[in-house]
Amino acid sequence: MGSIIVVEGLVKKFGGFTAVDHVDLDVKKGEIFGLLGPNGAGKTTIINMMLSLLVPTSGKILIDGFRLGGNSEKIKQMIGLMTQETVVEEELTAEENLEIFAKLYHIPEKEIPKKVAEALKEADIVSFKNAKASTFSGGMKRRLGLVRAMIQNPKVLVLDEPTTGLDVQNRVSMWSRIRELNRGGTTVILTTQYLEEADMLCDRIAIIDHGRIIASGTPTELKRLAGTGNILEITAKQTDVEKIAKALKSKFSLSPTVNGDKITAELSGKHRTTFVRVAIELERLKLEPVAISTHLPTLDDVFIKLTGATLRDTLSEGTSQFGRLRTGR
Ligand SMILES: Nc1ncnc2c1ncn2[C@@H]1O[C@H](COP(=O)(O)OP(=O)(O)O)[C@@H](O)[C@H]1O
Ligand SMILES: [Mg+2]
Repeated sequence: MGSIIVVEGLVKKFGGFTAVDHVDLDVKKGEIFGLLGPNGAGKTTIINMMLSLLVPTSGKILIDGFRLGGNSEKIKQMIGLMTQETVVEEELTAEENLEIFAKLYHIPEKEIPKKVAEALKEADIVSFKNAKASTFSGGMKRRLGLVRAMIQNPKVLVLDEPTTGLDVQNRVSMWSRIRELNRGGTTVILTTQYLEEADMLCDRIAIIDHGRIIASGTPTELKRLAGTGNILEITAKQTDVEKIAKALKSKFSLSPTVNGDKITAELSGKHRTTFVRVAIELERLKLEPVAISTHLPTLDDVFIKLTGATLRDTLSEGTSQFGRLRTGR
């Protein structure tokens, strides 16, 4: 499949700080591409450079074959954007929000009412069209933001953390809307810090940390990086963590990763062993873990394996069903 966005050696420095560090990306036409990374990884900075909202320090961006810089109007028509912060104009009604965007994208005056009506319907907010956006729920605002980003029928839709802050129900409904738009032929690039979102929604993912792409591929390809079999996960008292890690190494030749009070290790591969044998050995050594379990590799395991210093933030902000990446450094 052809590429729609190609990024080569992209760098962005803010003073002495490098926020984006030699990033290469190749987004194919028709796919849902995810940039997955913790807060501060550089996701928004990359997106903003793709949209010409921020000037790169160095590197190259090609959008549908056009080098970014000279063809900004053409590129503006081609890309729809829903940002993280300014989703909608709070003081305007839903209808006005859409009209302004339609004008901004030079949609012919006589087509605007029809476009706006369609968008209101798509966002499921027809009966609220004359209400100010400030009165909308989070889910409604996000839906309005999404249809507004699609008003000029762009080839590419860029969504910066489209579901951050949404509750589970609204998040799931946002996913199905994004999938629908994608099935209609729109290439989607989204950023996220949610592991399951990237896993379930994206055809391909680039995992980013500290401004660098640390791995990329399909969710399946990425998960294979963490192992082909089960991942052992042990939670232990702080005083036992190192002892357990040592035992896993010496008794089972495993390669554990320690992360706070958690120890993880791949059970498959050359040093195949079982969860039960490990549990028995730890009991014999009088090292009783708080919890011990196994699971199939997730994107979080990939992240832990590649960075060694991050973890699944299972209990943050009531979003326990959705693991989120965060930096542990
Ligand atoms: N205008 C700016 N000036 C200085 N530092 C910035 C600016 N914008 C972003 N940064 C820094 O660059 C890093 C990446 O930020 P950002 O791209 O917003 O990350 P993300 O979207 O992945 O959370 C962060 O450390 C952030 O503080
Ligand atoms: Mg961001």
